[in-house]
Amino acid sequence: MSQPIDSANRIEFRHLIADRIAAHPQQRVTFKTFMEWVLYEPTLGYYAANRQKIGAGGDFVTSPHLSADFGELLAEQFLDLWRSLARPNLFQVVEMGAGQGLIAADVLKYLERTQKSTASDYAAFWQALEYIIIEKSPVLISEQQNALKTFVEIERKLTWRTWEEMPDESIVGCFFSNELVDAFPVHRIEIQAGQLQEVYVASSESDPTQFVEVVSSPSTPELQSYLDELGVDLSTYEDGYRSEINLETFSWLETVAKKSVRATC
Ligand SMILES: C[S@@+](CC[C@H](N)C(=O)[O-])C[C@H]1O[C@@H](n2cnc3c(N)ncnc32)[C@H](O)[C@@H]1O
Repeated sequence: MSQPIDSANRIEFRHLIADRIAAHPQQRVTFKTFMEWVLYEPTLGYYAANRQKIGAGGDFVTSPHLSADFGELLAEQFLDLWRSLARPNLFQVVEMGAGQGLIAADVLKYLERTQKSTASDYAAFWQALEYIIIEKSPVLISEQQNALKTFVEIERKLTWRTWEEMPDESIVGCFFSNELVDAFPVHRIEIQAGQLQEVYVASSESDPTQFVEVVSSPSTPELQSYLDELGVDLSTYEDGYRSEINLETFSWLETVAKKSVRATC
């Protein structure tokens, strides 16, 4: 069972959101902004609050909670990539959004174990390996640092970085994530009379700390461009049809591409 969110925090958080909405020129924010606050607001947000979220005692589980196989298979994939890059002396694995650090633990434990075997080139791969975590939630960073102490202090294989601390075109290796992109805040859209509309969040008139949806014209032309690019014909959708658009994925992919060393052929 997950611990209930402390009710004083819950009330404080509702007031904070209500104040921000009231300060907004149209007294409403996009669902994306609302989702960003609710998930990532320091101390109060879902991923920032100090309570168990992921795992058997939390709200949801992910593949690494089921067994170490997932991380171990990934480790073998990283080894294959290193081989196909002609065994560079430094191979960096960048995990983005590491949760409780379970995948990192499974990958590193497996490679630490196999490097001691006589099998082919595991030892050389272990030498070349540097594991980097990029994590948005400070609470989860400290959980990860606790769980992965050995690989920081003794093995010196693991570090935490921000994108800003990572120079452009610096990474030789592999960027990966598990269940990250669906944690990005999304715009919610609604179709009305064949036209694109967006879902906003506003305060209820009777109690500003209760939130209501408002449907209005899109906050950004990028939403329509996204649908145009996919060739979506809005006239074929019924009134009230809703979906989500995850625009953050694009800037995230651009960042990842920018940080990778360009291959020269
Ligand atoms: C659903 S959890 C998945 C955790 C882990 N990968 C797993 O499979 O158990 C999403 C994770 O991504 C992190 N996260 C969300 N947005 C992020 C961002 N923009 N950059 C880095 N981490 C992010 C969250 O704090 C959390 O650790």
